[in-house]
Amino acid sequence: MVKVVVCGAAGGIGQPLSLLLKQSDLISHLALYDIVNAAGVAADLSHINTASKVTGHVGKDALAEALSGAHTVVIPAGVPRKPGMTRDDLFKVNAGIVRDLAEACAKHCPKAFILVISNPVNSTVPIVCEVFKKAGVFDPRKVFGVTTLDVVRSSTFVNHIKPQFEPQSNRITVVGGHSGATIVPILSQIKQVTFTPEEIKALTHRIQFGGDEVVKAKDGAGSATLSMAYAGARFTTSLLEASVRGKRGLVESTYIHLKGNAGAEWNARSTGLEYFAQDVELGPEGVANVLALPDLSAEEKALVKIAIGELKGNITKGVDFVIAVP
Ligand code: NAD
Ligand code: LMR
Repeated sequence: MVKVVVCGAAGGIGQPLSLLLKQSDLISHLALYDIVNAAGVAADLSHINTASKVTGHVGKDALAEALSGAHTVVIPAGVPRKPGMTRDDLFKVNAGIVRDLAEACAKHCPKAFILVISNPVNSTVPIVCEVFKKAGVFDPRKVFGVTTLDVVRSSTFVNHIKPQFEPQSNRITVVGGHSGATIVPILSQIKQVTFTPEEIKALTHRIQFGGDEVVKAKDGAGSATLSMAYAGARFTTSLLEASVRGKRGLVESTYIHLKGNAGAEWNARSTGLEYFAQDVELGPEGVANVLALPDLSAEEKALVKIAIGELKGNITKGVDFVIAVP
């Protein structure tokens, strides 16, 4: 039983994510941090008759107390997109928010698992890692970009056109990053159903731009929150199952720092990147083993090449944001 902190807990993702985490029997203390309204959300959730204690922490002065003793910190803090924006457009605001939270984590809970939801994930994960490196407490096994929503969307959208494909128990590998062309679902590995080349093309596009569908439908009121809370809770639960309960063989696609993670050398060499999303087996210390990329079709190889090109810039932007400041 461990302490889990949600930073940005009063937000569109933070509230339903906290609700889902309140149902976990692996969490003894759910600490909800935000710059506004976290006390109200905590009071509300604390009436739910599950075992965990819930505390609310509002404002910077309450951050140390929220983070101290944390086993896992989930970060959905920051602004979401409006129609017409890219995730990279969020960098201006969210980079500073994530950096400040990472600095506080490095100080108050340096051994915690850090799960980054705030966009642009392709850059915010490098920001967290660089902050931890600067503080001398970086463990590449413990920082994750949460790309689970891409995996969830993949199996959902496949099921929409192939109803015989069972979406909850069949996991689809998604590699690359978390924005548009950097999202590469490996549909060629699906064994249960077959696709025409046109179906593959349409599905790939829908998965890559699934976030835009929601942004457009919400029409200025934000981006995916409920499906993201579901995906975030799934990833957090998998990590807790592996790290607290010692469950073996749990695999999730996630965006991680390659160097220093077992099995990632090949990916680092073949992509030339410092960060990449792929299937990872979770264990007691976080990443236990990075699984080799599956065999890719010619089309998927071409998509990975495009993703690599875009990721390079996203990664450099995040790294420079931290190392440029002495
Ligand atoms: P939101 O605006 O509803 O909520 C964000 C919350 O963060 C607010 O409660 C706000 O007060 C809080 N916040 C702002 N600055 C903070 C700080 N310094 N410390 C703590 N909390 C702070 O937004 P949302 O819809 O919940 O989205 C949050 C982020 O998640 C966005 O960046 C969005 O793009 C991203 N997102 C990522 C994925 C993914 O797949 N990784 C999916 C959906 C959304
Ligand atoms: C998503 O994929 O839904 C999120 O990254 C939010 C967004 O901006 O699309």
